[in-house]
Amino acid sequence: MSYENLLIEHTDGIVRITINRPKALNALNQQTLGELEHFFGTDYADRTDFSGVILTGAGDRAFVAGADIKEFVAVAERGDGQQMAERGHEIFFLIENFHRPVVALINGFALGGGCELAMACHLRIATENARFGQPEVNLGIIPGYGGTQRLNQYIGKGKAMELILTGNMIDAREAERLGLVNYTLPHGQAEEKAVELLSTIATKGPIAIQESIRAVNSFYDHPGGYAAEAEAFGRATKTADFREGASAFVEKRQADFRGE
Ligand code: COA
Repeated sequence: MSYENLLIEHTDGIVRITINRPKALNALNQQTLGELEHFFGTDYADRTDFSGVILTGAGDRAFVAGADIKEFVAVAERGDGQQMAERGHEIFFLIENFHRPVVALINGFALGGGCELAMACHLRIATENARFGQPEVNLGIIPGYGGTQRLNQYIGKGKAMELILTGNMIDAREAERLGLVNYTLPHGQAEEKAVELLSTIATKGPIAIQESIRAVNSFYDHPGGYAAEAEAFGRATKTADFREGASAFVEKRQADFRGE
């Protein structure tokens, strides 16, 4: 499989993945998700010739501005929202359980699926212009790639509930204060910090690193929550509100939700 939407570079033992759809603010379409699945689940799943991964977005505006809303119209027609969420969960579990550390370098908007992707990584470093949020309710749906589960883990139920119910964005400093990101730094320094962290980890025993990732993740291993999220996402994608929300985004207007 060749990569169309991911740029993959190896430098000094670190693999850098850049999600490269800047005109769509690096939104995660199904092709891009498939490429992430291929990288983490097949291509690099058994490789040991690198110490870690830096995952970032192309351009200076966005890490990832969410799932690709322009593909949502087809999801509403097919009625396969639950399967879409389940597939997203599987791919993000591959990242969360990857044998080498994955650092999200969040260089702009990390919204919806973008915030969820960053949360599936092991560490998060934000540039000062980064903004975070779960704005799915603006579209008449809910987070479907693990956001209702992982946001609780990082920032606690109260703030997670606030962000998910309001769809409000927070800036990088607030994200750091809440524990959502490890560091907030100016653009150049953020990348240096990612390299520094991966270089430190590279001096440790690789098996210990892999086992640490597994053990920390096991504390949060509640598959029932993800299943509930996928079912709820599936139900929400079958509503008139979702069709209205997705259409309103594409037509650049305010959505008129009727609760139907
Ligand atoms: N899916 C598909 N396309 C997206 C996108 C997404 N999630 N986010 C942004 N884009 C596209 C826009 O449609 C626009 O394309 P166009 O030039 O063909 O019109 C382009 O990226 C630039 O976005 P635009 O909205 O014009 O930039 P902005 O600076 O006015 O606003 C955001 C930036 C991030 C606030 C806004 O794009 C946004 O709200 N995006 C959706 C975020 C979201 O709801 N994510 C969760 C999805 S589940």
